[in-house]
Amino acid sequence: MNNKIIIINGPNLNLLGEREQSQYGSITLDKLKENCQKKSKDLGLLIEFAQSNVEGELVNLIQDSRKNFDGMIINAAAFTHTSVAIRDALSIFKKPIIEIHMSNIYKREEFRHKSLISDIVTGGIFGLGDEGYILAIISMHKLLNNEDK
Ligand code: DQA
Repeated sequence: MNNKIIIINGPNLNLLGEREQSQYGSITLDKLKENCQKKSKDLGLLIEFAQSNVEGELVNLIQDSRKNFDGMIINAAAFTHTSVAIRDALSIFKKPIIEIHMSNIYKREEFRHKSLISDIVTGGIFGLGDEGYILAIISMHKLLNNEDK
């Protein structure tokens, strides 16, 4: 059964609720996790929700995910714009990946306009705040179900 997904969050997302509320709203990472768990349960998906501030830990997590998960939703945060290592790890995953950003990275500073991962993921969502995670879970559910056919 294709129903196991991992949601990976990169640096500083542990401080949601405290950092730049104008970009990310007031939701905390714990509340976001709870919302994701609820939506996944409704759809019959099993999720793991992870966060790390450390690039190498994220690379390890992405590598290990290829054995244990059918799909991935990733907000690589600042590493989106800088990390070839995370891009390379994602390339090895070979299953659906949804890139997500809470803020609209194209409305922000120019260095955020470039994502090193957009051209290797299945699709992406940006600028829709925490709701983007819920939309990503719905899309992932559809992607995994279509793959069964
Ligand atoms: C972010 C956007 C990134 O540019 C930033 O570094 C983040 C969060 C977002 O969710 O909008 O930490 O990925």
